[in-house]
Amino acid sequence: MTERLRAIVERLNIAPDDHVLVIGCGHGVAATLVCERLAGGSGRLTAIDRSPKMIAAAARRNAAHVEAGRAEFLVARLEELDLGDRRFDVVLAVRVGLFHREPQRARALVEPWLKPTGRLHALFDPPAQTARRRR
Ligand SMILES: C[S@@+](CC[C@H](N)C(=O)[O-])C[C@H]1O[C@@H](n2cnc3c(N)ncnc32)[C@H](O)[C@@H]1O
Repeated sequence: MTERLRAIVERLNIAPDDHVLVIGCGHGVAATLVCERLAGGSGRLTAIDRSPKMIAAAARRNAAHVEAGRAEFLVARLEELDLGDRRFDVVLAVRVGLFHREPQRARALVEPWLKPTGRLHALFDPPAQTARRRR
């Protein structure tokens, strides 16, 4: 799974100054890979998961990135998300059921958090899918 997540994150072309939202971050493996791409820039990762256990594990795994101010891990459900004025260049959701069951609703829930040029990548296994925001 780590290798699959590595391949997914590589394809995102994340720039060091990007603001990235990971939805359903689980243990925080993809979050780590994203943070490695933000190192040295002004970019920042926000990672959410509805499970407090997963968020605790992901924050532990990425403690150095949290310490550096590069990452935050929040217990939150996409359906009730309140991220204030944060807006994102890239939103990533891997194997998050809502995007599979109700893709249109999930995309609508993400939309308010995207920058005007932001892009959503929602992927499942299988098949893999990528959705770009319409301009
Ligand atoms: C199958 S796991 C995938 C974890 C990770 N994305 C990966 O690919 O390794 C799905 C994760 O999404 C979280 N999740 C599911 N629905 C969610 C929602 N509506 N809002 C936030 N998190 C959600 C679950 O708690 C779980 O940790």
